Amino acid sequence: MDRASLQERFGIIGRSDAIRHVLDRVRQVARTEITILVQGESGVGKELIAQALHQLSERRHKTLQIVNCGAIPEGLIESELFGAEKGAYTGAVDRRTGYFEEASGGTIFLDEIGEMPLTAQVRLLRVLENGEFSRVGSSKVLKTDVRVLAATNKDLGREVKAGRFREDLYYRLSTVIIHVPPLRERKEDIIQLFEHFQHRFAQQYNTGTVRLTEPARQLLMRYRWPGNIRELRNVAEQSAVLLDGDAISETDLRSFLRGVSATQDGLLPVVAGDSGEKEPDRERELIYRALLELRLEMRGLKEQMGALMGAVQGNSTQAMVVHRDSIRREIQEMVEDIPFEIEADGESDVPREEPREAPLPSLEDAERQLISEALERFDGNRRQTARALGISERTLYRKIKEFEDAE
Ligand SMILES: Nc1ncnc2c1ncn2[C@@H]1O[C@H](COP(=O)(O)OP(=O)(O)O)[C@@H](O)[C@H]1O
Ligand SMILES: [Mg+2]
Repeated sequence: MDRASLQERFGIIGRSDAIRHVLDRVRQVARTEITILVQGESGVGKELIAQALHQLSERRHKTLQIVNCGAIPEGLIESELFGAEKGAYTGAVDRRTGYFEEASGGTIFLDEIGEMPLTAQVRLLRVLENGEFSRVGSSKVLKTDVRVLAATNKDLGREVKAGRFREDLYYRLSTVIIHVPPLRERKEDIIQLFEHFQHRFAQQYNTGTVRLTEPARQLLMRYRWPGNIRELRNVAEQSAVLLDGDAISETDLRSFLRGVSATQDGLLPVVAGDSGEKEPDRERELIYRALLELRLEMRGLKEQMGALMGAVQGNSTQAMVVHRDSIRREIQEMVEDIPFEIEADGESDVPREEPREAPLPSLEDAERQLISEALERFDGNRRQTARALGISERTLYRKIKEFEDAE
């Protein structure tokens, strides 16, 4: 399959040398059985690359099991991956099949492998070397036939030096490394990606596709994109949902970019630091989703109200036009505050305005409600709930505990 068809088939956008190089590498190694390490910052497309590697391999008709090593509680990761015998640990009431057994014949994608505890690394090395493993609490040797793909946003060489990652495993994993560069190192792709996502979201939300003004383009090109393509996609989504008019201006965009305010030209600011939290982008994504949904809901409500008021006043079209404008202004103001609040971990010192109309719940309340609804949907099953919310069980436990403590 040539590069163009590959891009077409997997929706991989970009014409930069960097992305071409990545895709050529994918084409070279996809059909082999080699273990591959995909390396790059959060949001650069590592998972997308892993999907492509699996889909182009002989194993494509079998499962691709995606495991986020950073999202599984440390004490559970070995039994999750390799299974456990009944009674192997407190709470292990039944025998548990691990992912390596389930995925036999297929592929396992170990995301955030840099988060894997050392004891699990020993077992992983063994399975990579000869396909052998045993369940936790058993010495019986089992065999599996799994191809391993791994990803990390860390410098594993440095992790080895720091004693957090086994050197032998690192050598085993690094036979083929596919490095996916951050977006700021392939600026040629920025506009194409933005237009692609904007168009897609405009269709999804039934709004019109709009063009970027020249200064808006310049801003997108100068911005640092700490969250890479994931962040760019979110910005495009907000533009599609929250803006109207026939062009996106620089000012429109500023309010959507992290750490770039209307007054400050901080275009190489905010590097997402390692906060010690293992899945900041997942949580950020969750909060982002919740906020966007709230905003959409509010917009819907306001539009209904506007239509009603217009009808009451007997001049519905004009009322709607005036109203849309004020809705847009208001949402814009809300959006301007939000990125800072997320960045500052809720400790924003931006003075909050009193809500004028339908008051918004606090982030915490929204999150609490989302979690309790999800728990209800899964009959209180925390594992399924955590999966559905895209957070780790550990994080879910912590949050439930926090909510309970607050009560
Ligand atoms: N080159 C690309 N073209 C189109 N979409 C992309 C590209 N790279 C990444 N994406 C999208 O960006 C988002 C983040 O990518 P993902 O693979 O989850 O990143 P990572 O695993 O490195 O954090 C996903 O929605 C993915 O589909
Ligand atoms: Mg990822």
